[in-house]
This record gives sequence, structure tokens and C-alpha cells, in this order.
Amino acid sequence: MREITTLKLRKMKQDGTKLVMVTAYDYAAARLAEEAGVDLILVGDTLGMVVLGYDTTLQVTLEDMIHHLKPVVRGTRRVMVVGDLPFMSYQVSPEQAVVSAGRLVQEGGAQAVKLEGGAAVVPAISRITAAGIPVLGHLGFTPQSVHQLGGAIFQGKTAAKARGLLEDALRLEDAGVCAVVLELVPWEAAELISRRLTVPTIGIGSGPACDGQVLVYHDLLGLNPEIRLKHNKVFAEIGKLTSAALGAYAAEVRSGQFPAEEHTRRMDPAAWRELQESAGMTRPEGGRP
Ligand code: KIV
Repeated sequence: MREITTLKLRKMKQDGTKLVMVTAYDYAAARLAEEAGVDLILVGDTLGMVVLGYDTTLQVTLEDMIHHLKPVVRGTRRVMVVGDLPFMSYQVSPEQAVVSAGRLVQEGGAQAVKLEGGAAVVPAISRITAAGIPVLGHLGFTPQSVHQLGGAIFQGKTAAKARGLLEDALRLEDAGVCAVVLELVPWEAAELISRRLTVPTIGIGSGPACDGQVLVYHDLLGLNPEIRLKHNKVFAEIGKLTSAALGAYAAEVRSGQFPAEEHTRRMDPAAWRELQESAGMTRPEGGRP
């Protein structure tokens, strides 16, 4: 059993301890995130954009998600690993939703799943939680509806819209979610929702009153330097450092500076002499300078 469970999430909210969530899509990143002390890792369908190079999350499949969940689960022991249900893996029917969620848990190794939407996904949430699988909701800007919403824009800016988000959040809670991600929801609305729910809210671009925060791994490390998002903070310019390091590597290979003596090993001198003799080699042909 992992240290971070649904019970622990609720307790953290009660104690006022902020939840820290980050996305990850591979073994190395998952290990680093756990070592850094995060509580939850989301194998998000942002996979499609930051790793696979699509322009939306809509092309990501259940197979893609399972493929990337496995190394994240292998790279961690303590955190809760959440698998995102991708577009069209849960919208068709509650039965489809529970089968897809079951695959993320059984094949991918996730401890919980996340899906997007309000009242419309309540039957799916009820069906999945009835199967014993913890579910996180996702309200506000829901990237799988990007074409309907007209872009990655804040949701709940008017009193009526914010009220609608609160009602949706309460319905998700009644259906049994263990947390709700609030993406691009104005600070005040996110604060109201966070106060009214007994389960934690996890914000992204939704202000500091949420019970926790989530950022995309590649965004917080500046791994795609051309992408700058208002809600994101780049905590280290790893993208720029990586480009510089790769450039230095290429330059040293071309100049012959790399590899140096310490990056290789020599043969035993006797073995080298024997090789030269047996191959009929003379010194100018090559070998030890
Ligand atoms: O897929 C994802 O990474 C997400 C986060 C942005 C919350 O849903």
C-alpha cells in the first residue's frame, strides 16, 4: 500500500496541508518527482502535447496512457499515481468508463483515475467508484472540450458560470470523487469551491486558495522553451540547459575533444602487442598513440 491514499488526501485537506501534484510520463521523471517529495503524480493526457507532439490532447489513446503509466508506477513507491482517462475512453457509457478505468489500474498500475466534466460524467464516476477505483474530477477549462470551449480560456468568470462550476463540483463530490482538479478557474470561484467541498481541490491556474496545485512537468522545467503560459512558473530553465549541453556535446565530438582518455579504457599492453603481432599490424596503421 502506498503512503498517499484517498484517506490521506482528505486528512491533508482537514489539516490544511497543501497537496503537491506534478505530471510525469516516464520512469526517470517519476523517480525525480518522488525523490523531490511530491504527493501525487498525474500521468496526464497532456502526454499528447508535451511528449508526443500533438497540438491537443484529443489524439491520445488508452494504449498510450497505459504505456506511459507503467514506467511511472515502476519508478515510484510512495506517491499516488493517477492515470488520465483519455478522450472517448469514458464518454460513450458508464460501462465503457469502468472498463477503461479498470485497464488503467490493472494494466497500467494506476491507483486512481481522472476524468473531465461536470454533471454529464456523474454516471461514469458512480460506476467507476462502485468498482472500487478512486476517481479525480476535472472542472473549469477541460482540454478534451477545447474545440467546444474555443481555446484554453478561463471558465467561471461570471457569477452564473462560477455558480454552475460550484454545482458541478458538489455533484462530483456526491458521486464519490476523491479530489477535483480546477483548471483556469478565477481565484475567487476556486476559493469558494474549495471551501464548500470536503474533498481537496487541486488547482492549475486557479489561484492559491485551492487545497493543492498541479503543474505539467515539462512546463515547470521549461522543457519546451517556446511555450510560455501565464499560469505556469518555470522553476528551472532545464530546456535551455539541455540545448546548451547538447550543443557542447556536438561541438566536442566534431573537434575531437570528446571522448577523452578518461571516457574509454586501454587494452592490457601485452594483449595489445599480441593483437598487433597476430594481425600483422605495424605502428603507423593505428592503435595506441
Ligand atoms: O493532462 C494533464 O496533464 C492535466 C493537468 C493539466 C491537470 O489534466
